[in-house]
Order: sequence, then structure tokens, then C-alpha cells
Amino acid sequence: MSSASPQADAGAADLVVSIRVEVDVVLARQEARRLAADLRFTGAELTLIATVISEVARNIVAYAGKGEIALRIVQQGQRRGLRVVARDRGPGIPDIELAMQDGYSTSRGLGLGLPGSKRMMDEFNIVSEVGKGTEVTMTKWERVR
Ligand SMILES: Nc1ncnc2c1ncn2[C@@H]1O[C@H](COP(=O)(O)OP(=O)(O)OP(=O)(O)O)[C@@H](O)[C@H]1O
Ligand SMILES: [Mg+2]
Repeated sequence: MSSASPQADAGAADLVVSIRVEVDVVLARQEARRLAADLRFTGAELTLIATVISEVARNIVAYAGKGEIALRIVQQGQRRGLRVVARDRGPGIPDIELAMQDGYSTSRGLGLGLPGSKRMMDEFNIVSEVGKGTEVTMTKWERVR
């Protein structure tokens, strides 16, 4: 996990979408859009958030079989953000550094899901343990305009 930081959340409980099949991916995206509608995200930012949710949710379906996506509005000073946590108790990732490289895939995918998601979000953290599972935590912050 990332080290504790002085980020108070907005008090909202996690909204958890369980992920098992492809339609759950769509549901998770819809829930994120609904939550994020309250925040000052541009249409482009909402699209990036939906994209990363698709990527991590599809990874859960493909590699772990099942898992969940937790969504939460977080706050840091005046800024709010949307935090996405994708977690599963699947096989885990033996070499995270390798998995984070563009083009690395164990399934003949493009190998862009994880590194692309990191680029699309403001914060990205991945923890994985072989035989235990994987947890990807990502946050997008509102721009201060
Ligand atoms: N939740 C997970 N559990 C176990 N292994 C995972 C998980 N997510 C990713 N991986 C591993 O990390 C690799 C890289 O993931 P990434 O999403 O970047 O690429 P991909 O899924 O192979 O292809 P793409 O997402 O571009 O279709 C995967 O090929 C897989 O080996
Ligand atoms: Mg992927």
C-alpha cells in the first residue's frame, strides 16, 4: 500500500462493484460516472476514468476470474478526487516492474492496460503478491480552475 497520507476522505463510503463478467465492467463504469458527476471533471477526464476502470476490471476478469472495484470520492484541501481501487484474490503478479512496461502481456494483449492507466490518472499504486492477489489504487483529482 501507499504510505499513509493526510488525505481525509469526503466521508462517503466506498461504493463497491463486484467484477466477474464483462457486463460488470460496464456497471463499474456507469457507477463511476454517476459518482464523478458531482465533481468538476471535464468530459475528457470522465472518459479517462471510464477507460482505466475498464482496463483494471478487464484484468480482473481475465487473470483473476473475479474481484471488485471500489469507488470513493476523496478530498485534499479544496480539491476532490475520485479514487478507484481494483482488488482481487487471484494469482497475483510475479514481477510488477515487468507488468508495468508497455507491451508486456502474458495473454497476447497489447500490454498497455496497466501502464496506460498509470499515465491517465494522477496517482497510481499497485500491490500484488503471488498466490494472494492484486490491488490497484488510482486517483484522479479535480483541476483547480
Ligand atoms: N489482476 C491481475 N492479476 C494477475 N495478473 C495481472 C492482473 N492484471 C494484470 N496482470 C498481469 O500483468 C500483465 C500486464 O497487464 P496489462 O493490463 O498492462 O496488459 P494486458 O492485460 O496483457 O493487455 P491489455 O490490457 O493491453 O489488453 C498481464 O498480461 C498479466 O500478466
Ligand atoms: Mg489488461
